[in-house]
Amino acid sequence: MKKVYLETYGCQMNVSDSERVSTALARDGFEMIDDESDADVVLINTCSVREKAEQKLYTQVGRLRHRKHRKKPIIGVLGCVAQLEGETLFERSPGINFVLGTRAVGRVSDTLKQALGGRNRIADLGERADDYDWTVADTHRHSPYVAFVPIIEGCNKFCTYCIVPFARGRERSLPASEIVRQVLDLRRSGVREVHLIGQNVNSYRPDSDSGLEMFGGRSPFSRLLRAVAATGIERVKFTTSFPRDFTDDIIDAIDSNENLCNWVHLPVQSGSDRVLRSMKRGHTVDRYKRIIDKLKASDRDIAITTDIIVGFPGESEKDFAETVKLVEYCGFDSSYIFKYSPRPGTPAFEMEDDVTPAEKTIRFLELENVQKRVQSQRLSRYPGKVLKVLAEGRSTRTENGISGHSTCHKVVNFLGGDEHLGKVVDVRVKEIKANSLFGEII
Ligand code: SAH
Ligand code: SF4
Ligand code: F3S
Repeated sequence: MKKVYLETYGCQMNVSDSERVSTALARDGFEMIDDESDADVVLINTCSVREKAEQKLYTQVGRLRHRKHRKKPIIGVLGCVAQLEGETLFERSPGINFVLGTRAVGRVSDTLKQALGGRNRIADLGERADDYDWTVADTHRHSPYVAFVPIIEGCNKFCTYCIVPFARGRERSLPASEIVRQVLDLRRSGVREVHLIGQNVNSYRPDSDSGLEMFGGRSPFSRLLRAVAATGIERVKFTTSFPRDFTDDIIDAIDSNENLCNWVHLPVQSGSDRVLRSMKRGHTVDRYKRIIDKLKASDRDIAITTDIIVGFPGESEKDFAETVKLVEYCGFDSSYIFKYSPRPGTPAFEMEDDVTPAEKTIRFLELENVQKRVQSQRLSRYPGKVLKVLAEGRSTRTENGISGHSTCHKVVNFLGGDEHLGKVVDVRVKEIKANSLFGEII
């Protein structure tokens, strides 16, 4: 039995693809292992969203090639860098045996068998087969209790800085009936929480209405949310949402279904209309604020998180100051802040990258500080509150520590035993840490 080590970078879509790759390889007679140094085959599922993410691939391959005292493993590259670079990877990074694009991962077993049989430099950037199997074996899920369910793949938005539409192709929604069937299966096998995932989940638009008929008259995504809630699965989260397509009926669905969790991830990218236009985001600051107002008006106490890019081409001090103001206005529960990274092939790559690296760092740190301030204000409401927490695993730091997420997607740690694992427990918050809460079971 050949031993395969699979390393995954990037977003949840990549984690989810890797889960299906492991499922397929184990079914086809390979052994998936956790220790890279023992592997006959190393697969790297790559991300290309920023230059640093892409760099990880080249560093890793270089390291494997110069590994001393050990047989050199077969190296296969999957995911977004594979899709974008294709065969050029063989020149650029000698040692790579095969390359599988983002929609070719279903053919991983066959490709690997060919590579083991001595064929070199195989590149498959083809499309998914019609009968591609979207299910993940229980043993290959990243958690026994939490499952990622892709509902839409690809992206049609072409924000000017972003490589994802090129790496992932056009938007394609999965049939609602198939999604509901998967959630029902997951529920039966003990999964407590599903995350409906996609580059832009609320752009969900399936070819047919099958499975959604009874929730008519609303946007397809809000109908899907109601259909998934109706499966009776304990908790449903979804990410990422795209502001332009964020319709009010999504909030209505959350308001009327307890199992739709009170957390929305809504990347804003910038607080300046001028920059948003140049990014081609399709939303204004004002439109974004109205969504935030509506979310805050909900009785469900919805947590809001975002992504922000600092130092986009042409971003002035004034534009940046507007981003700071927006972060203060929205009071995000957390923000992922990124320094703009030019990606070859995107429209922004042709713009002058005129904010110096030093200035990007200054803005990054300043915004991070502002975020820390608004975040600690948000968190100061929590001590004394009781949160419903899914006990997901043992926390490594404390003895008898258990770690999980609240419905509002905060990391919550508490003391407990094995009997709590996989259960949703009531935890009273005692203490606020930098990026988590600490509490005790009641
Ligand atoms: N589909 C989601 C997320 C896409 S990638 C969305 O629409 O927002 C995740 C985040 O990476 C983005 O939200 C953006 O903040 C960041 N990102 C994407 N391209 C980037 C680039 N070229 N430089 C810096 N950050 C980038
Ligand atoms: Fe990238 Fe924009 Fe698509 Fe998000 S919506 S994946 S940022 S192009
Ligand atoms: Fe990265 Fe590809 Fe996801 S570029 S963020 S792994 S879609």
